[in-house]
Amino acid sequence: MELEIKTPRWFLPYLEPKRYKGIKGGRGSGKSHTVGEALVEKMIMQPNCKMVCIREIQRSLKFSSKALIESKIQAFGVSHLFDITQNEIKRIGGEGIMIFQGMQDHTADSIKSLEGFDLAWVEEAQNLSHRSLQLLRPTIRKAGSEIWFTWNPDQETDAVDAFFNEAIANNADGFLLSHVNYDANPFLPDELLKEMEYDRRYNSSTFDHVWNGAYNIKSDAQVFNGKYCIEDFEPKSNWNGPYHGMDFGFAQDPTAVVRCWVYQNCLYVDRSFGKVGLELDDTAQFFLKDIPNLSQYTLRADSARPESISYLKRHGLPRIEGVKKWKGSVEDGIAHIKSYDKVVIHPDCEEIAKEFRLYSYKVDKHSGDILPEVLDENNHYIDALRYALNPLIQPSGSFKQAAFNLYR
Ligand SMILES: Nc1ncnc2c1ncn2[C@@H]1O[C@H](COP(=O)(O)OP(=O)(O)O)[C@@H](O)[C@H]1O
Ligand SMILES: [Mg+2]
Repeated sequence: MELEIKTPRWFLPYLEPKRYKGIKGGRGSGKSHTVGEALVEKMIMQPNCKMVCIREIQRSLKFSSKALIESKIQAFGVSHLFDITQNEIKRIGGEGIMIFQGMQDHTADSIKSLEGFDLAWVEEAQNLSHRSLQLLRPTIRKAGSEIWFTWNPDQETDAVDAFFNEAIANNADGFLLSHVNYDANPFLPDELLKEMEYDRRYNSSTFDHVWNGAYNIKSDAQVFNGKYCIEDFEPKSNWNGPYHGMDFGFAQDPTAVVRCWVYQNCLYVDRSFGKVGLELDDTAQFFLKDIPNLSQYTLRADSARPESISYLKRHGLPRIEGVKKWKGSVEDGIAHIKSYDKVVIHPDCEEIAKEFRLYSYKVDKHSGDILPEVLDENNHYIDALRYALNPLIQPSGSFKQAAFNLYR
């Protein structure tokens, strides 16, 4: 059977085998469609090929790549080669199959069901967590198997970006990466072109991210820009700490606990856990599960919730205490964290790592100027960290009166 598929020029190298194939870039560059077509073609040519289309979170098949794949099967006029059921697409005349899954539904055990697969396509890979990437890589282990990623970059520290950036920088074998934008898409519909032109004119601050695939936040708007890194470490007996802090949340925000250490003017964070909607009755148990000896240490919490502190003191966290806030305590806490040579965040601490990435100064919409005001968002784990470090934080001179109130 002859099948003629028009692919954009940038895709040609992807027809050769490579262990890791990444395609990143802005909206409308044809990433999803091109890969969708390539996978259908592969299923036609290799009737025994097993593929899995993956997202970090897949609430239902409606939010998977299944509809796109089905539309390509139809467009190619090859429906007779496929048995399309509710959950999967089977190749008639072979063992080939395509399934659609969310990584968050997988455990270390359940992921093993993918071991015999030839190809995994991770779509919207900017959402892939470090944990999911670590789970997926050794699972797709069949000889000649490949893992494909398509994404619109969000943060430089996202798992997929960190993975490819390091590999490319080291010239590692088996990686192929392209950056494509709308101008590389020969099929760009007029509507999208108009959307792009509108955004270029009226949404200039996000244009580069959305359409050119640039990273999302101006890094100099990040409060802790250049101050932190994600790195594996093991606390040593001569380190100061551990220090524990808790921020209360409930309906929207997580109740969050952070554990940290100080050594040679570096701050080390090795635990960050939290949950939205955590009942007070379940709080101690929830955190003791992950930090078993938490009850033996001072745990500093937001003093705005004296009744919660009193309850937890009597129910599992006897050494919890409230920390007073003072005018400027947020800024003083930030200054303290910035005063370390480096903040080292353990790779397990995804929640606080995310906040370090997103915690930002306000940016003026019109000028793009960065303002000296910190946005009150993405700060639950960071607040917990400030509480943990509270005895080490010096109130700045201009708040002497508040400091006096605090320490008297
Ligand atoms: N191979 C193709 N055949 C037909 N239309 C295409 C093809 N590739 C891209 N397009 C068109 O370009 C649009 C953007 O492509 P898409 O793959 O969704 O981009 P991205 O995933 O990069 O945002 C699609 O909605 C479709 O209209
Ligand atoms: Mg897409």
